[in-house]
Amino acid sequence: MSPLSITRTLPADATSAALRADVAQGLSRTPKQLPPKWFYDARGSELFEEITQLPEYYPTRAEREILLTRAPGIAAATDARTLIELGSGSSDKTRHLIGALTGLHTYVPVDVSESALAAAGKALLIEHPDLTVQALVADFQRGLTLPEAPGPRLLAFLGGTVGNLLPDERAAFLRSVHDLLSPGDALLLGTDLVKDPATLVAAYDDAQGVTAEFNKNVLHVINRELGGDFDPADFDHVALWNAEREWIEMRLRARKELTVKIPGVDLVVSFAEGEEVRTEVSAKFREDGVRDELAAAGLELSKWWTDGAGRFALSLSVRP
Ligand code: SAH
Ligand code: AVI
Repeated sequence: MSPLSITRTLPADATSAALRADVAQGLSRTPKQLPPKWFYDARGSELFEEITQLPEYYPTRAEREILLTRAPGIAAATDARTLIELGSGSSDKTRHLIGALTGLHTYVPVDVSESALAAAGKALLIEHPDLTVQALVADFQRGLTLPEAPGPRLLAFLGGTVGNLLPDERAAFLRSVHDLLSPGDALLLGTDLVKDPATLVAAYDDAQGVTAEFNKNVLHVINRELGGDFDPADFDHVALWNAEREWIEMRLRARKELTVKIPGVDLVVSFAEGEEVRTEVSAKFREDGVRDELAAAGLELSKWWTDGAGRFALSLSVRP
C-alpha cells in the first residue's frame, strides 16, 4: 500500500441524498436551518483555514498552545500506535501531536472534505515519510467503519468542532465514539470555553468579513450542487450569542422579501424580509458540562488542560 490512501465512504459528489434531505427539510421548516457540514467544499475548507489566521479567531491559536505544551504528556499517557482524527481539516495542529507520539504507526484522518484530506496527507508525509496515512472521506455522524490498525488507539476531535453538534446529536455522537474505542483507548477532545460575549461574537463576525463569506458559502454549495438560484448578496451574515444555550449562532438574514428556486430538491423557498436561516451553532463549554457529557457516553475524563488565558480546553478521556 502507498503511505497515503484515501478511501471514500460517501458518494462521489455532494449532490448526495444527505444534502438533498438536509436542504429539503431544513428550508421547509420554521425557523429555517441548515447543518454546518455543508460549508466545507474545497472553497469552504480554504475559508476555514483563513478564519484560523484572523486576529479575532482565538480558538486555533489557543488549542495549538495547549498541544505544544501537552503533546509529550498525551503521548506518555496514551502510548498510541494509531491516531484517528475526526474533522481533521488541514491536520495542521495535529502535527504537534504526531511529532510527540514516538510509537505512532498509522494516522487515520476523517473528513467530509476530500480536498482538505488530500492536501493534509501530502503535507504530513513530507514531514513523516514512514507514517501510514489512511484518510477516510466520511461523515463522522453516520456510523464510521475504521480501518484495521494497531492499538492502543487515540481518537482526536480538535478545534471545538464537537460544539457544532446540537445537544442530542452530541450525545449520540459521543456514544458512537465510545463504541468505536476499545477498553484502554483514549479520546482527545477540544472544547471552546464560555467567556465574555464580546470576544465570542467578534470571533464569529470578523472585521475582514471572512466568516461572513464562509457562512454564505453554503448558498454557493446549494447553487452548484442542486441548481439553486440564491444570490448571496441578498443575505446578511449574523453572529449572536445565545446566553441561555451558551452557544454562538450563525445565521443568514434575508435583506428583502425574496423567493429562491432549488430544482435539485424541487423546492421554491420564500423568505420574508429579515427572515433568517440558522447555519451553525458553536457551543461553548464548562469543565463540569464536558465531564458530565462524557460520563453519559461511558467515557471517563482524566485530564483537563486549558491555554494560559483560559479560553479553550483540551481533555483526555478513556474508555474504561
Ligand atoms: N480539526 C481542524 C478543522 C476544524 S474545521 C481544526 O481544528 O482546525 C471542521 C472540520 O470538520 C472541517 O474540515 C469539516 O470538513 C469537517 N466536518 C464537519 N462536519 C463533518 C462531518 N459531519 N463529518 C466529517 N467531517 C466533518
Ligand atoms: C469548526 N468549528 C469548530 C468552527 C467553530 O468555531 O465553530 C467553525 C466556524 N464557524 C465560524 N467560524 C469558524
